[in-house]
Amino acid sequence: MKPLSTIPATSGWRRTIRLLNSILRPLAFMEERTQKYGDFYQVTFKNAPPTVMTSNPRAIEEILTASEDTFEVGRGNQGLKFLVGDHSLLLLDGKTHQNRRRLLMPSFHGEALQKCSSQIVETTQEITANWRINQPFKVRRVMQEITLRVILKAIFGQDSGERYTRLRELLTNLLEIFNIPLTAIFIFFPSLQKDLGRLSPWGRFLAWKKEIKTLIYEEIQERRERLSSGQEQATDILSLLLLAKDEDGLPLTDEELHDELITLLFAGHETTASALSWLFYWVHSLPEVQDKLRFELNSIGDLSDYKTINKLPYLDAVISETLRIYPIAATTFARILTKPKRIMGYDFAPKTWFMMSVYSLHHREDLYPNPKQFQPERFLQKTYSLYEYLPFGGGNRRCLGSALALLEMKLVTATILQQFQLELTSKKPMFPVRRGLTIAPPAYFSIKVKGLNN
Ligand code: HEM
Repeated sequence: MKPLSTIPATSGWRRTIRLLNSILRPLAFMEERTQKYGDFYQVTFKNAPPTVMTSNPRAIEEILTASEDTFEVGRGNQGLKFLVGDHSLLLLDGKTHQNRRRLLMPSFHGEALQKCSSQIVETTQEITANWRINQPFKVRRVMQEITLRVILKAIFGQDSGERYTRLRELLTNLLEIFNIPLTAIFIFFPSLQKDLGRLSPWGRFLAWKKEIKTLIYEEIQERRERLSSGQEQATDILSLLLLAKDEDGLPLTDEELHDELITLLFAGHETTASALSWLFYWVHSLPEVQDKLRFELNSIGDLSDYKTINKLPYLDAVISETLRIYPIAATTFARILTKPKRIMGYDFAPKTWFMMSVYSLHHREDLYPNPKQFQPERFLQKTYSLYEYLPFGGGNRRCLGSALALLEMKLVTATILQQFQLELTSKKPMFPVRRGLTIAPPAYFSIKVKGLNN
């Protein structure tokens, strides 16, 4: 068997350039490496275990179907601690992770999801109610306002009032810091995370985060009192978490509750807002796609028929293609081996890191002919396996909110397109940029209202 392709360890300025490349031009960098080293290669480091990067469906299957104790994931996400805290689902592993997932899962599926549908449509209608002909708007801002309000409502049962208005402002401000690709440097170089006061980006980040924490703690406190005095029925995620017990039969601490809520708030709106922004870009760049989509949407009439909207084949294909061509998470969370394992015929030692390169997988010629072209039809002609198409990751860490994200994308698109004719403010092609840990359309991306539908 061929030796495994290996990128040797570097140090000093070479190492910094490598890191800056992966921060500032993540997709091109990933593509160049896949072209040079193939779909299964390892990167070695001077004082750390190697990382294996893969976009090979067989390797991905071997990783995702391994028993749960083969890999740990939480340790690989320590870099997110500054945002989500020590007790976030993202940082947990083993039984605690399993229990927390089991607890949260029903809130993002079945009946609970059904309940979100009307809220998604109403929020979209409310936010777009004052759009006027020729008025341009920044797409991300609108999409983020919709998705943030939807997730606030799912978590806390409400999205307005003084506390929630402030919470919305603070969460938006906090994420705006990462709007500039260069500020992602704070995530990758923790030594730069220094509080230099309100005038510095990191100082502002810490001040806003502290205020968010105070607001969430106040809400937890009040809600606990209302639940225990019987004044409140448990219908939202916060109540559910307040009534839950951990594996030792103890309720979650305020700190655990805070970290879980903040994880859901961030994971639950930022990604969906980027995906929706891409969708509006593609649909308005490609008239043929827009015509087909509008034709399908015109066939349904009433927007309250959520189940029908959820099953529209072309809308579904447009969404799948949007998440294929520029997946919001270009790689999945790292999987770190806990015991020796053979993958693709190679033996790996414990502590080896594995990253599934979603972007390179989604751009394989053999799976997706003409991968740089936006062609929703490919998803109507072929069903891709769980190891060939990975926008939401997979295995026991697969995205908890994927069903909510997909439903949201469908309902927001249907609501807006049924009411408005839109056009891009610029005909120039748009390319993805880094936004924190994700890949997103540039913040300037704007659309304007061309006409209203009756
Ligand atoms: C288009 C929108 C979204 C995309 C592209 C996306 C993508 C992802 C990806 C790639 C992962 C990592 C999976 C892995 O490593 O295998 C993930 C995890 C996660 N996502 Fe999403 N996500 C989206 C929306 C949401 C929403 C709406 C929520 C709602 C709360 C959510 C909550 C989570 C959580 C809690 C995890 C961690 C799961 C765990 O560690 O067990 N995501 N997501």
